[in-house]
Amino acid sequence: MSVERTFSAIKPDAVAAGKAGEILAMIQQAGFKILALRMTRLTDAQARAFYAVHKERPFYAGLVKFMTEGPIIVMALEREGAIVKLREVMGATNPANAAEGTIRKRFATDIERNAIHGSDAPETAETELRFFFSTADLL
Ligand code: RTP
Ligand code: MG
Repeated sequence: MSVERTFSAIKPDAVAAGKAGEILAMIQQAGFKILALRMTRLTDAQARAFYAVHKERPFYAGLVKFMTEGPIIVMALEREGAIVKLREVMGATNPANAAEGTIRKRFATDIERNAIHGSDAPETAETELRFFFSTADLL
């Protein structure tokens, strides 16, 4: 396994609930280095573009509405095997299926309002990092 970067976002439900600090602590305890981090609020166009891969799915409109309802915290993370490891720390998309001790088990409400996003593959990690961060942010 090599050191790699991934992209993550603490979603509007968890930010609004004041859980960002606990989620960041869990990410750091799992051995991730935070390379860059900021709070932002997605516009409708940004949310549509970010989740364009899901545009044909029945949950797309609801997902865009959810992701724009309040601020999110976006971050660039680094670790050995970061992409797979972050998905482990996050837990399953539906918190009903998430393992004990995962972020979604602790903080997600349901399959949509699930507290955190993480890139699912090397190509999406690079695309998503580029969506939010510049070269200078990631040095
Ligand atoms: P994410 O992309 O946010 O890290 O989540 P994921 O890979 O675990 O799940 P994905 O299939 O990529 O779905 C993206 C997000 O869409 C919302 N969703 N809602 N109502 C539904 O059936 C449903 N399914 C997915 C969730 O917010 C999910 O994380
Ligand atoms: Mg996904």
